[in-house]
Amino acid sequence: MTDASAPTKTILRALKGETQAVPPVWMMRQAGRYLPEYRATRAQAGDFLSLCYNSELAAEVTLQPIRRYGFDAAILFADILLIGQALGVKLWFAEGEGPRMETVTDGAGVAALRPAAEVHETLAPIYETLKILTRELPRETTLIGFAGAPWTVATYLVAGRGTKGQGPAHDFIARDRAGFAALISVVEAATVEYLSAQVEAGAEVVKLFDSWAGSLKGQDFDDFALKPAARIIAALKARHPGLPVIAFPREAGERYVGFARATGADCVALDNSVSADWAAEHVQKDGCVQGNLAPHHMVEGGAALTAETKRIVKAFSNGPHIFNLGHGITPDANPDNVQRMIDAIRG
Ligand code: CP3
Repeated sequence: MTDASAPTKTILRALKGETQAVPPVWMMRQAGRYLPEYRATRAQAGDFLSLCYNSELAAEVTLQPIRRYGFDAAILFADILLIGQALGVKLWFAEGEGPRMETVTDGAGVAALRPAAEVHETLAPIYETLKILTRELPRETTLIGFAGAPWTVATYLVAGRGTKGQGPAHDFIARDRAGFAALISVVEAATVEYLSAQVEAGAEVVKLFDSWAGSLKGQDFDDFALKPAARIIAALKARHPGLPVIAFPREAGERYVGFARATGADCVALDNSVSADWAAEHVQKDGCVQGNLAPHHMVEGGAALTAETKRIVKAFSNGPHIFNLGHGITPDANPDNVQRMIDAIRG
């Protein structure tokens, strides 16, 4: 007998805990500057933020790597910092320098943020991108929505930019822990609204990017990475029963152990600082894992790329696994190496 409710898409099967002979594959930043067709569409849009808010063109760049490589998943094209803008904080991208934002550094700044329920006004074009994608993606391709985790988003809100070691956010915690917790709480509520609306618009899976989780230690990791993720996941699953969630507490190291169980995530994404053999033993025992090829292989290619890809596939072959990189593919990657990686996985 076949179970009519069992998913047929490879990514959804992995997220349900199924071990597959050939793991499904997608890549963080798969729509990005290493692809000439992405650079052309970005130029047509004018700049990166205009591309994010242009639903037709954002859908187009989301589809480009699917057409070229046939990845098992498409990830919505947008950015984790748009939520800040939706909360009323100015955001811009300085060419060649990365994101810049107005700063939120104290309780008054937190109090001045727009209410979580109002984020949809700014983010409506993102939902439209998802609606277009539900019509245009191949039947077998899973559509992934995403948001930044509150801690990572807060590090940019506090500093106004990316910072080494996330010093300004750690200083805020040391100065005014309750004030910082209030900021996390606002971003958390906004994130639930945002992701929930993404699901309503067609996202089949959502991923929480906590890129700077690794700089949180001890109680700070619990309070500002683990517990917010657990609350967001619980709220989303209450609204959308069965929704699969991927959590990416990047560079969490030992704290990857038990993270899925403690947060309710269906899959933990692994960066490339942990060994696949270690993660297979200590993390994959709780369910699906995703990752963890080092992005530099996509620049260098060659026999090392093939060998490393096969080594990771083998290490995770006794449990549910979604092949991915340990972090986003970089602009200097060679598009031919992506095909080489896929060939090594699919054989
Ligand atoms: O995976 C995907 O391609 C989905 C879309 C996506 C982007 N950014 C597109 C993007 C996702 C999921 C993100 C997440 C994101 N954005 C994170 C968390 C994941 C990570 O990479 O650690 C963070 C910290 C950001 C904030 C951000 N956006 C930075 C620091 C930068 C500049 C760095 C850079 O690579 O230039 C961005 C810009 C950005 N976001 C680009 C893309 C494709 C490059 C923009 C361009 O075309 O110039």
